[in-house]
Amino acid sequence: MPMPLESQTTAVAWRDVTKVFVDGHQALQGVDLDARRGEILAILGTSGSGKTTLLKLVNRLIDPTSGAVVVNGRATIDWDPIELRLSMGYVIQEAGLMPHLSILANVGIVPRLKGVSRAERDAAGRRCLEQVGLDPAEVEQRFPHQLSGGQRQRVGVARALAAEPELILMDEPFGALDPITRREIQDEFRSLQRRLKKTVILVTHDLREACRLADHLALVDQGRLIQYGEPSDFLERPANDFVRSFFQDAAAVIPFDSGREP
Ligand SMILES: Nc1ncnc2c1ncn2[C@@H]1O[C@H](COP(=O)(O)OP(=O)(O)OP(=O)(O)O)[C@@H](O)[C@H]1O
Ligand SMILES: [Mg+2]
Repeated sequence: MPMPLESQTTAVAWRDVTKVFVDGHQALQGVDLDARRGEILAILGTSGSGKTTLLKLVNRLIDPTSGAVVVNGRATIDWDPIELRLSMGYVIQEAGLMPHLSILANVGIVPRLKGVSRAERDAAGRRCLEQVGLDPAEVEQRFPHQLSGGQRQRVGVARALAAEPELILMDEPFGALDPITRREIQDEFRSLQRRLKKTVILVTHDLREACRLADHLALVDQGRLIQYGEPSDFLERPANDFVRSFFQDAAAVIPFDSGREP
């Protein structure tokens, strides 16, 4: 089946998505949003606004109550959930590493599930560790508890890269780090993404992180998409007072141009 035109530029689309949980809580209302291929989309919002819910819809941890989530031109409900999940990387908060597996084995989990040989996945795993700034010789045989928090988060990113997915979902991947390490990992990740041209959907409530990394931002509040655009749009043309207050301190602290190529 040829890929529909729209999906050549759109990796993931949320189309009029509503999510009501079984207890009746409405987490999302009529969300229309696109994640463009090869870009970083940051989903921003306060706690409980629906960010993680938007992400979980993409890999079918949950399904929409109405509307559709479209991945590579196909609605998620038409995908086999396992096939869908294996086709993308997922970095969760605290990295979510398996405590009883070595670092190299953790990084190779998805390739192993896909039937990649031991030698191949170990070689690929070492490359991915290097890509996130870790020395394989030093860390590959250790267990997660033998690494620092920042190193574990790097391993989480390496693991998401190891399956060579076109799409990477990240939920607060750089949380709980000191500002210097956090900045360092963000910069590395940004240049890695520019090189590899993956589509990344990054959930964060850190405005600086979003503006530093993302090509486009989506601000959600109480389950609704409030504004979508480039970081500078939010400062120059805030959609309403909520956006204005969310971004009120941003003008002073965010160097919108730094680290960005023209
Ligand atoms: N399984 C569930 N059943 C009922 N309500 C849920 C469920 N999962 C999430 N919610 C509710 O839906 C809303 C959105 O949750 P979500 O996890 O998407 O928020 P979030 O924006 O990721 O917040 P945070 O920044 O705190 O992680 C919240 O009010 C939450 O309590
Ligand atoms: Mg969340």
